Amino acid sequence: MAIQGLENRSGLQGRRVLLIVSGGIAAYKTPELVRRLRERGCAVRCVLTRSGAQFVTPLALQAVSEDTLYQDLWNLTDESEMGHIQLSRQADVILVAPATANILAKMAHGLTDDLASTVLLATDKPVLAAPAMNVRMWEHPATRANVALLQSRGVRMIGPNEGAMACGEYGPGRMSEPLEIVAALEGFFAEGDAPRPLAGRHAVVTSGPTHEPIDPVRYIANRSSGKQGHAIATALARLGARVTLVSGPVQIADPVGVSVVRVETAVQMLAAVQAALPADIFVAAAAVADWRVDNAAGQKLKKGGSGSPALALAENPDILATVSGMGQGRPALVVGFAAETNDVAAYARAKLARKGCDWIVANDVSPATGTFGGDRNSVHLIRRDGGEDIWADLPKSEVAARLATAIADRFETGKTE
Ligand code: C5P
Repeated sequence: MAIQGLENRSGLQGRRVLLIVSGGIAAYKTPELVRRLRERGCAVRCVLTRSGAQFVTPLALQAVSEDTLYQDLWNLTDESEMGHIQLSRQADVILVAPATANILAKMAHGLTDDLASTVLLATDKPVLAAPAMNVRMWEHPATRANVALLQSRGVRMIGPNEGAMACGEYGPGRMSEPLEIVAALEGFFAEGDAPRPLAGRHAVVTSGPTHEPIDPVRYIANRSSGKQGHAIATALARLGARVTLVSGPVQIADPVGVSVVRVETAVQMLAAVQAALPADIFVAAAAVADWRVDNAAGQKLKKGGSGSPALALAENPDILATVSGMGQGRPALVVGFAAETNDVAAYARAKLARKGCDWIVANDVSPATGTFGGDRNSVHLIRRDGGEDIWADLPKSEVAARLATAIADRFETGKTE
């Protein structure tokens, strides 16, 4: 079944994945996921829950995995041939996809009422989960608390994505696509092989735009996609940092292995950053709105009547300046961004002084560069001590990797700026 060549290029060659398929509509994508993993040289063994079997047939999973499919905790033959303890240990990683609200709750609280949940409690292997559920279920405080608890124990979340759902609603809760899950697994294994110079450090990263409400249905926003900030969170996590990503509303998936706090407004972003501190590293990559609407309407504004409404603006808190100016408890390294359309380095140096941060990553966001929303970036890294690096026309992931490496070097050499 392996497609010639793919397995040689993937870090998945020879890896053993135990795939637990729980009962969400997205389970129909799992035979495709198994195929994509196998063509990269992975051995995949599947456990299917009773409700998972409502959405994908055991025969389909057994056929594509070319291995025994495990379903029943009490099947004596399976228990004698392969107990749940063995099953949970004979893999390099356990992948739960789709991970329903129910299985996440069981994992968080250690419940074991079927083979899948028993394997998950018995395992000593890393666990990755690709959640899939209705948006309200995903956003429910119970699920949020379960996900946070699982992440704090090292369970990595892949996605979910935002989009239209089988139930007709819209929002975060769609399972990541099979190739996104494959990429997350590749990243996970690549990380395992890489050095982890930021192990033991906590990094807080802001990313994305903020939305400042005008009324319940309208808001002021900007074109930030969150791609650069999210890539920085991923890169810091790869170097071993524990990362809290405080993200404004974005359309991209959560980075793997990072705790994500979602906010909408600048005021909420500041509160979330303060709640996430203390940290060793603070990277302010979000495009925070400078102003909010001071007289935001409680009800939708209507046309007609006494002409157009006047918006009164109030200045938002400056998150970067606030964190930079903290006395006790200030992160050892505070990194800001400067999005400029001209005289990039000069304005950035002035901004570094004004904000009181240690480094500024300055980028040119004039429309011709396509930086906003695009996948590439050209930046100057400007340090308070006068040092400057120029990284021209690189993928945002590479800018992120270089910044994370520079941060790791800064901590290794113990320099103060
Ligand atoms: O002042 P300006 O928006 O150009 O500064 C950009 C830098 O400041 C970015 O790092 C951005 O994340 C941060 N910032 C902030 N809070 C604001 C405005 C900007 O953290 N209210």
